[in-house]
Amino acid sequence: MEEKKERILTGHRPTGPRHIGHLAGTLTNWVRLQDTYECIFLVADLHVLTTDYQHPDQIYPHTLEVVADWLATGIDPERATLALQSAVPEHVQLCLLLSMLVTDARLHRVPTFKEQVQQLGLQPSLGLLTYPVLQAADILLYQASAVPVGEDQLPHLELARELARRFNQLYGEFFVEPEALLSEMPRLPGTDNRTMHTSYGNTIFLKDTPEETTRKVMGMYTDPTRLRATDPGHVEGNPVFTYLDTFDPDTAAVEELKERYRAGKVGDVEVKRYLAGVLNNALAPIRSRREEYIRQPERILSILESGSRRARTIASETLDEAARRMGLRVRFPLRAGNPS
Ligand code: TRP
Repeated sequence: MEEKKERILTGHRPTGPRHIGHLAGTLTNWVRLQDTYECIFLVADLHVLTTDYQHPDQIYPHTLEVVADWLATGIDPERATLALQSAVPEHVQLCLLLSMLVTDARLHRVPTFKEQVQQLGLQPSLGLLTYPVLQAADILLYQASAVPVGEDQLPHLELARELARRFNQLYGEFFVEPEALLSEMPRLPGTDNRTMHTSYGNTIFLKDTPEETTRKVMGMYTDPTRLRATDPGHVEGNPVFTYLDTFDPDTAAVEELKERYRAGKVGDVEVKRYLAGVLNNALAPIRSRREEYIRQPERILSILESGSRRARTIASETLDEAARRMGLRVRFPLRAGNPS
């Protein structure tokens, strides 16, 4: 008999095409996790609205882009479940139930909330404040035991754990308390050496052409203390070498290049040309699969539809039991648009 696998859940907000930071930091890891876990990958479109509700035209194309990029990097809909958050109404329902178990003051202390408020320069909405409650619902609905995330998401995971504990305390042991599964890869810097972020214009997208990729690499930040190719250069903290460490399978060649760089025996231009070749090689198969998918939106939608349907069977069972435990005992089998 096949061993029952542990379930993990993770997701991205559909904020635009994925870049090499997502590839190195999360997607490569997700693809690997499919071998050992039952994986649910969530397109968190409701979460986009917490900050971007003024751009309703973007969510749909961004959803297609994100899923095309996931599939292109090796997320496999035959083995994993790809679900669309807004298509599974139980996310919103559990979010509301869980919101009873956390104080307003606790949510104001979530560091990501404080950061967002500073960045936005807007009056934060109630939806933004409850962002981590919705995320907790995403996770708890599937009784996921682990959540692969980056460091930035740890405060949200902590809240999900608190909510699970609080619920279990009040209504009896029910929710699985999820563990963070931190990715081991260090965060990839942007081409300008700041944090890589789409809004900074310092990313290389998986969908970029070889020419765009090369152009972005040739404009990369390197060692600012080095004025001439004959000056000894710094490899540490130099994003060009961080990218090589991440993407070049030929570690011996990278070591040799680093030696020459430190000794002032190779120029930035040559190193960048080499890196452009490495990246274009690594991205070529992803690009061609991505192009295939993006040309067939109906195929992407059908993957999301069947994934969401599968997700919903789990989610509705969890929600029913959670609601029942909280005292909502009357559960009619009503269907929308089906009078009589
Ligand atoms: N907040 C996550 C991010 O911005 C996305 C997300 C939504 C998520 N729901 C989730 C991640 C559930 C893990 C589990 O990246």
